[in-house]
Amino acid sequence: MWRFYKRKQISVLSFLLYRLFFFSYPMRPFYTRLLSLAAVTATAWSTAYADLGFFAQSQLDQWPISSKSQDPIPVVKEPIQAQQFRVLKNDRVKDYAVRVKETTSCEEGVQYSGYIDNFQTDDHLFFWFFESRSSPDTDPVVLWLNGGPGCSSMMGAWMELGPCLVDKSGNSTVRNEHSWNSVANVIFLDQPVNVGYSYGKSKVRDSKQSANDVAAFLQLFFGEFPEYSDNPFHISGESYGGHYLPSLATEIIRRNKEADRGHIHIPFESMLIGNGWTEPRTQLRHYETYSCATDSEYKPIFDEQECEKMRNTYPRCEKLMSACYRFPSPLTCVPANFYCEKTQQENFGATGLNPYDIRKNCTGDSGLCYDEIDAIGKYANNPEVRWELGVDEKAGEYSGCSDSVGYRFALTGDGARDFSKHVAETLHENIRVLLYVGDMDWICNWFGNLAWSLKMEWSGKEGYGQALEKPWYNKNTMEKAGEVRNHENLTFLRVFDAGHMVPYDQPENALDFFSRWLENESLSEK
Ligand SMILES: *[C@@H]1O[C@H](CO)[C@@H](O)[C@H](O)[C@H]1NC(C)=O
Ligand SMILES: *[C@@H]1O[C@H](CO)[C@@H](O)[C@H](O)[C@H]1NC(C)=O
Ligand SMILES: *[C@@H]1O[C@H](CO)[C@@H](O)[C@H](O)[C@H]1NC(C)=O
Ligand SMILES: *[C@@H]1O[C@H](CO)[C@@H](O)[C@H](O)[C@H]1NC(C)=O
Repeated sequence: MWRFYKRKQISVLSFLLYRLFFFSYPMRPFYTRLLSLAAVTATAWSTAYADLGFFAQSQLDQWPISSKSQDPIPVVKEPIQAQQFRVLKNDRVKDYAVRVKETTSCEEGVQYSGYIDNFQTDDHLFFWFFESRSSPDTDPVVLWLNGGPGCSSMMGAWMELGPCLVDKSGNSTVRNEHSWNSVANVIFLDQPVNVGYSYGKSKVRDSKQSANDVAAFLQLFFGEFPEYSDNPFHISGESYGGHYLPSLATEIIRRNKEADRGHIHIPFESMLIGNGWTEPRTQLRHYETYSCATDSEYKPIFDEQECEKMRNTYPRCEKLMSACYRFPSPLTCVPANFYCEKTQQENFGATGLNPYDIRKNCTGDSGLCYDEIDAIGKYANNPEVRWELGVDEKAGEYSGCSDSVGYRFALTGDGARDFSKHVAETLHENIRVLLYVGDMDWICNWFGNLAWSLKMEWSGKEGYGQALEKPWYNKNTMEKAGEVRNHENLTFLRVFDAGHMVPYDQPENALDFFSRWLENESLSEK
């Protein structure tokens, strides 16, 4: 989920930076240089202040960790053994351990849950791994990440594509016939630290740090589960995953090139981004085009007056975003976020609609607009469930999305940064990229996603621009499920009648494109 953080401190900080920025406008060369210098300073500044707890960060952390626990390498304690974890230590990678447990759930196949522990930083990343229902030995391994920033990937597992979906009561789960582990081994990872069941001391504040940690996780995971390390590997996710995944792709590619330095080579084949937040400047332009078009029975969302206001304010938003792209730093990106949010996004709240699905009203108490998310919160905090999954007590209370993590990302302006360059880089390494977008989502709508993918600079830009949109049919039902555009290794898939969470709204069609994509089959052939 791509969420906005409206805390007072952020607004004040954003406003100040925004004012500061506008005094240096228009951007003459002198100011440009000044700005770039200031940007560097500001990065150091904001990081330092955040570390000093200037923004009362410790109060924001949902699970403050006692300052007394200074042991660099904690001994494995009783409850963990009582939980029957296998604790694996790796001589190759020092100061790490893996706690793994064979979990039972409504899924009958093999599954493991546990933590990758980094004792150096005292970080503990929670994962849940499901073997494929088909041929686990040879089927691909797929990593799934939810967005936020700060949202738990257990939402993906329990609400969208996992083998067991939490029911409305929040008391139990039901088997998902269309789970993505029908055709793949799937890893759900709670990241960054302090999201979902993960816990620890590090304060991750941008997509680059997230990518580093996840890449390290993968090294340890495949180190401990070498039986899967030769299978084709794919990364997938949604929403803010449009930031996480391209950043992670770059990091995996980099480490693969250093395989001789002790990194395990990962057979990285593709990246799947669902309703991603990737290239904000372009995507921000398309709140207006999407909301003011009369393209479906649910639109237009805004009246002409509102639409005009959005069009009139966009040029300034664009300029601010351009500054953030050129000099990425809190000084440039935080105010850009602030202004663009205010002018292009904030008006949606008044509609009462669900920003993740314009066919629905916003419901539930979580602020995330789905009743299911409240049910998942209840289920995830059930002591029996936590015991079964081997959740550490230190992980504290589960919440679908961590405000403190989201807040930290907001302070660096990470959300405003452009990650399409990383997508281009990934394509240039011959890694296939699928952008699939449910067309009823407002927040990361398909207009914006298609637009940035057309603008992206890469070797196949022209061919991709000229490629035709072809119908996509579900192979089993023969239903026309969407439209697909493909050129070389880039594919864009518009998914009909799906909101932000495509596998939730269209489970059968989602499994169709997912399995065909993994097989490298064309989606435009019947
Ligand atoms: C869920 O569990 C609670 C507590 O065990 C119980 O009171 C409630 O009736 C259950 N709800 C459903 C729908 O089964
Ligand atoms: C949303 O709420 C409005 C007003 O409360 C109501 O008229 C409408 O029917 C609701 N729409 C849906 C899809 O539930
Ligand atoms: C796409 O990537 C594959 C490797 O996955 C590579 O063999 C192929 O040449 C690429 N195709 C194009 C048209 O670039
Ligand atoms: C996937 O299919 C395309 C087109 O058929 C081909 O060019 C490419 O080499 C294939 N990639 C892999 C990894 O097999």
